[in-house]
Amino acid sequence: MDAVAGGLPMMTMEKCLDFPLLTKRTVLAHVSVCKGCCCGAVEKGKAEVPIDWMKDEWKKRGLKKRLQLTITGCLGPCDLSNVVNINCSAGMVWYGTLRDFSHYVALLEWAAASAEAGELAPLPEGLGSLQFDPFRRAASIAS
Ligand code: FES
Repeated sequence: MDAVAGGLPMMTMEKCLDFPLLTKRTVLAHVSVCKGCCCGAVEKGKAEVPIDWMKDEWKKRGLKKRLQLTITGCLGPCDLSNVVNINCSAGMVWYGTLRDFSHYVALLEWAAASAEAGELAPLPEGLGSLQFDPFRRAASIAS
């Protein structure tokens, strides 16, 4: 039987395996960097999101085959812009308020270390204080 979270049925891993994955490229993680209405909106006083630099470095270092990079529209928690989300088989991690270029450097170095090792490296220590749970309010309402 599937687990239930907040009234929504959650797929178990067994059920997921029933579906064939035909995608040729399987990745260690999917990194979504928000560049929506607020993230990177320097005209609104938000910090820049170094999109071109990220994309160039991702390509130059050959990370695309092991870690998917997506520049995305609004992910929701705009008040914590700039937002990054990492999804992998173990779950997801959210980071907010990435205001310094060094935050993106840490993310890139983590991705490079993971790709080189063939498994996810420990998350960047420098980003630890920027981690948040976007579902904390929804969880407290459901209980
Ligand atoms: S614009 Fe990035 S979370 Fe809304």
